Amino acid sequence: MRIDIITVLPELLESPLGHSIIKRACNKGLAEINIINLRDFTTDKRRTVDDYQYGGDAGMVMMIEPIDKAISYLKSQRHYDEIIYTSPDGEILNQKTANTLSTKENIIILCGHYKGIDHRVREHLITKEISIGDYVLTGGELAAAVIVDSVVRLIPGAMNDNESALSDSFQDNLLAPPIYTRPADYKGWKVPEILLSGNEAMIDKWQMEQALERTKQLRPNLLEGGE
Ligand code: ADE
Repeated sequence: MRIDIITVLPELLESPLGHSIIKRACNKGLAEINIINLRDFTTDKRRTVDDYQYGGDAGMVMMIEPIDKAISYLKSQRHYDEIIYTSPDGEILNQKTANTLSTKENIIILCGHYKGIDHRVREHLITKEISIGDYVLTGGELAAAVIVDSVVRLIPGAMNDNESALSDSFQDNLLAPPIYTRPADYKGWKVPEILLSGNEAMIDKWQMEQALERTKQLRPNLLEGGE
């Protein structure tokens, strides 16, 4: 899978995507993540990417031309399955969206900034808008990093068996059961006996019950098929 991220702040993305499972997936050739500086598609000396808003309201707006040039350049190289804009107005990211995106071959993520982008970009160039929650970030880079992290780890081979995505929270619309490691008794706080029993069938049953119970208590909407 290839992910091209268009941003005015490339530095903000390099570190979050340069470690752990994501780095390994890139090193294994399962994912290729390219960070593209929008300013490389400007034509003036100051490499301007924003301008004042029509209508007189405060706040700068990202201009259509450099964005169109960047996207057109990428599209001239290959087909893209999705051109995503990170925005608080978008569809809220969930595990289902991450699963779907992980099956795509090529995607572009455009990071929003300033007051936002010229609306014509959204009307004519973007195929999907994604929000990572009902709050406003300074820019779309951290949202893009969250999207990429949630997607790339799901690409087959990105994780080893121990890290398997199948036991993640949300994967069956259930939260994950509680997990423990040594010591079995810490200050009298004990690991549930069943997990020490070695009885795999009983452990599976207990974990499923716990997952259901935690979901019922903490996120009952998931059991109703909600998100
Ligand atoms: N840009 C600013 N806030 C955002 C959010 N909540 N999700 C995605 N992109 C954003």
